Amino acid sequence: MNNIYSVITGTGSYIPENIISGNHFMEASFFDNGVKLEKENTEIIHKFSEITEIVARRYADADLVNSDIATIAAQRAIDNAGIDRETLDHIIFCHNFGDVKAGSNRMDMLPALAAKVKQALNINNPDCVAYDIIFGCPGWVQGSIQADYLIRSGDAKKVMVIGSETLSRIIDPHDRDSMIFSDGAGATIFEGKESSEPTGILAHKTQTFAVDYASLLVMGSSNNPDERNGNTYLKMNGRKLYEFAVINVPQVVKKAIDKAGITLDEIKIVFIHQANGKMDNAIMKRLFKLYNIDVVPDNLVPMTISWLGNSSVATIPTLLDLVRKDKVAGYKIKKGEYAVFASVGAGMHINAFVYKF
Ligand SMILES: CC(C)(COP(=O)(O)OP(=O)(O)OC[C@H]1O[C@@H](n2cnc3c(N)ncnc32)[C@H](O)[C@@H]1OP(=O)(O)O)[C@@H](O)C(=O)NCCC(=O)NCCS
Repeated sequence: MNNIYSVITGTGSYIPENIISGNHFMEASFFDNGVKLEKENTEIIHKFSEITEIVARRYADADLVNSDIATIAAQRAIDNAGIDRETLDHIIFCHNFGDVKAGSNRMDMLPALAAKVKQALNINNPDCVAYDIIFGCPGWVQGSIQADYLIRSGDAKKVMVIGSETLSRIIDPHDRDSMIFSDGAGATIFEGKESSEPTGILAHKTQTFAVDYASLLVMGSSNNPDERNGNTYLKMNGRKLYEFAVINVPQVVKKAIDKAGITLDEIKIVFIHQANGKMDNAIMKRLFKLYNIDVVPDNLVPMTISWLGNSSVATIPTLLDLVRKDKVAGYKIKKGEYAVFASVGAGMHINAFVYKF
């Protein structure tokens, strides 16, 4: 008997050209608890790279907003899938801050960014429904899970899921944790495929831990007391977030793998949210520990964090696009192989899906 499965048929991304290295922060004045840090910036920047593995990140050009870079990624995904854009049933745009003009710190979410992308792509078909999902960094994974529900119901045949963000516009220049964040856009086309053999998205799992953990990533005022001017910036409790993620992400990933009816050793590639290198390594180690395996195999987890930083919802669709197009050394997608996609972020949400290429 044939079932409907959600299969990735096209990907696209936009990586801003502005490379922001550690030197960019040499003149910054960093504060913690309202007090200026005494350490030299060279030392802070060096320490930052040591604990996160991030040496560079990307910032979008000042004349572009989030929906602009998303449109470029979306057009590339449509071209890559080779589909007529008018045949898309849904555009799901995952972000958290809307369009923020350079220098403004104001978030603009009306109309929904998905509608702006639909307009920019000149898609006339009113049956192509365009809306946004606000789901922290795991937005693109959740959008993909939503696409799977739409496709398997039979209501939709083609869904585009976009993850795009310009975090450089909402970070506090006086907070050293801001050096984690980056800008970028990724888009993915999912299509329904009838098959007697399981393929595409096989299983997924999402959890939300709000009562104890919703305040780990929030908007707050500047670390610099002289800059408390009503603007709010992305703030995180890095240490608590790290502990939360390392304990809980492996459990959710295991739940998804169990639902798919396979085991961890069958997974050949893991697309994990590029939060920071140290945290991702610790999560993978813990995941393998759940299966009583001490060493994470080489060439399982492609990483872009060192040169692209953390672009929130955009990290996984960008990584997927790069791997699909053979742009990440040592990684190649092979037909029939199993993959896991997993993310964690503001909410706090954790999600994962198992995919068969
Ligand atoms: C933010 C984070 C990098 C801080 O690392 P940490 O090891 O917990 O930091 P600690 O508070 O224990 O401090 C360790 C050292 O690093 C320094 N440090 C902490 N944060 C720093 C930063 N952002 N930049 C530079 N140095 C930093 C501390 O001053 C301390 O230095 P010292 O040993 O000389 O005294 C870490 O908590 C983390 O990765 N959290 C998760 C963040 C994340 O992924 N967010 C995105 C979620 S979607």
